[in-house]
This record gives sequence, C-alpha cells and structure tokens, in this order.
Amino acid sequence: MQATHVPVMKREVLAALAVRPGGRYVDCSVGGGGHARAILEAASPGGSLLGIDLDPQALEVARGQLEEFGDAVRLVEGNFRQLDEICRKLDFLPVHGVLLDLGMSSLQVDEEERGFSFQREGPLDMRFSRREAPTAADIVNEYSEEELAELLWRYGEEPQSRRIARKIVEMRPLSTTTQLAKAIEQAVGRRARNKSHPATRTFQALRIAVNQELENLAAALPQAHGLLGFGGRVAVISYHSLEDRLVKKYFQRESRDCVCPPGTPVCICDHRATLRLVTRGALKPSQEEITANPRSRSARLRAAKTADVAAG
Ligand SMILES: C[S@@+](CC[C@H](N)C(=O)[O-])C[C@H]1O[C@@H](n2cnc3c(N)ncnc32)[C@H](O)[C@@H]1O
Repeated sequence: MQATHVPVMKREVLAALAVRPGGRYVDCSVGGGGHARAILEAASPGGSLLGIDLDPQALEVARGQLEEFGDAVRLVEGNFRQLDEICRKLDFLPVHGVLLDLGMSSLQVDEEERGFSFQREGPLDMRFSRREAPTAADIVNEYSEEELAELLWRYGEEPQSRRIARKIVEMRPLSTTTQLAKAIEQAVGRRARNKSHPATRTFQALRIAVNQELENLAAALPQAHGLLGFGGRVAVISYHSLEDRLVKKYFQRESRDCVCPPGTPVCICDHRATLRLVTRGALKPSQEEITANPRSRSARLRAAKTADVAAG
C-alpha cells in the first residue's frame, strides 16, 4: 500500500481543534496518519495522540509515518463506534480534541483489491475491515430488488434507484466493480459531459451500507463529546450530505439550551447546551486545495467545543 493520502483541510483542522503543546488528542480515523502527524507536530512538546482505524493496512502506513513521535502516539485497530471503551481501556481521557475524518482514504480507493472504485477492476468488497461482514457483493447478490432500490435511494440519494436495482437483479451474480459499473451504465446510460459517473451514487450507497457508516457516526458523536475536558473540541470532516446533516444536527442540538418542539409554550425538556459551535456553518476547502487535491472537493468541516468554559 502506498502512503499517498493527502490530509484534507489540514490547516483548518488544526485551527478548529486549537491544537496546543502538551494537548491530548484522539484521531478516530487515523488512515495514513497525515492529520495525526500535523496534530502531533502542533502539540509538541509534550502532546500525545491516540489513533484509531478499522483498517490494519492503514494503521501500518500510519505507524511508519508517525514513528519519530515514539511514545507520544498509540495506534489501535478498532471501530470509532467503540470510542469511549477504547479510550477508557487505555486510560486516555479526558482529551483536548477529537477528530473524525470520515469515509475512505486514497490508500483504500487506489487499491483495486479493496473494491471501492468503479474505475478499477476489483472484487466487490468495500469493507474498511476485512474482519467484518457483509461485503458489497453479499448485498448486491442477496438483497431483493426492493431492498436494493431502497438502499440506493436512502444512502446514495440515487434518483434512478429502481431502474438500477432492476438491472442489477437481472444481471447478477455480479462479483466485480466493473461488472456492477456496467450494469449501472446499462440501466441509466453513460455519463453526460461534466456530470459525475452514473455509478457514483450506487458505489457510495453500498459503501455506506457495508460499513454501517451512518450508524457508526451517530454512535461516535456523543462519545467524542463525552471524552472532552473543559474547552475540549471535536472536529468532523464529512464527504457527503447524509454525514454532514447528522453532524450539523448533533452540534445544533447540543449547543441549545432548549430542544422542545417549536411552539411549546414553556420549556419542558430541561436540556442544557454543553457545546458551542466553533465553525459557523460548514467550512469548505479552498479553491487552491481543491485544485491541488480534487478528492477534497466534497469535504465539509464542522467543529464544536465544550460550552462550560468561558469563551477563548
Ligand atoms: C478519510 S480517511 C482518514 C485519513 C486520515 N485523516 C489521514 O490524514 O491520513 C478515513 C479512514 O477512516 C477509517 N474508518 C472508517 N470508518 C471507521 C470506523 N467506524 N472506525 C474506525 N476507522 C474508520 C477508514 O478505514 C479510513 O482509513
């Protein structure tokens, strides 16, 4: 595996987390270690970082990238869905900052064997961790037409979900990425100029389902929040609207003193704000970054900090 993942919005992430010397940070999706490296540099002297990833191959790359930081880094194979448990086991809390850089890395997309890309011939796998099931092939070949259409609609927001599902069922069994991409092209036609490839949404939907990405994110956000000490910060980079919406809603809710339904005459929820927004809306990568690294174009960064601390 090549160490070629370029960390997205690196400068903005360091600012959003207000990384400082001596701080303690968790990188929940350490990948190739790009953000982790930047955090460790900004946190030195005295800082430390716990890096988590589901993918043992990514961790191997991160280990190489972060070797020089010695004991300041700990790397763990695990799911950020178990963030709290992982940190407690290692006695790594409270923390000054938590980063979630969601989705897949270039290390994974560029490797045919992982089956993430419709532009590369490979098995229909798409798992971040090969210890987990199902694979994309299991879903594509075993779901009913209705279930497939629902999945493509829900996780890919694919307007042609029914047509694609029908074609998949007609052409299966499908075992490779290019077979699936061809089935989609046959269902909805080839890409129009300047439009994304017709398989884009289907591949996104399958990857989200295979890895239970939205469930993992929903479970991780309150745990990340709970790990923060006074003034601690959480930053999340998402790459599609479903993830970004989830993060936005969580931060909005936790930064409000009242979450009663609109129109409730007197507050009955007793909810108290425990987060304060650090970014106004979602930050996007600069045009300069998008030009240098086109894969960053869909990134959205949101951050919040614990509210029990005076501003600053
Ligand atoms: C966009 S990459 C992170 C890249 C990293 N920030 C860097 O600078 O190299 C996302 C990583 O998250 C990992 N991942 C996805 N879902 C995960 C989960 N639920 N738990 C742990 N790691 C996860 C993937 O395996 C992948 O390596």
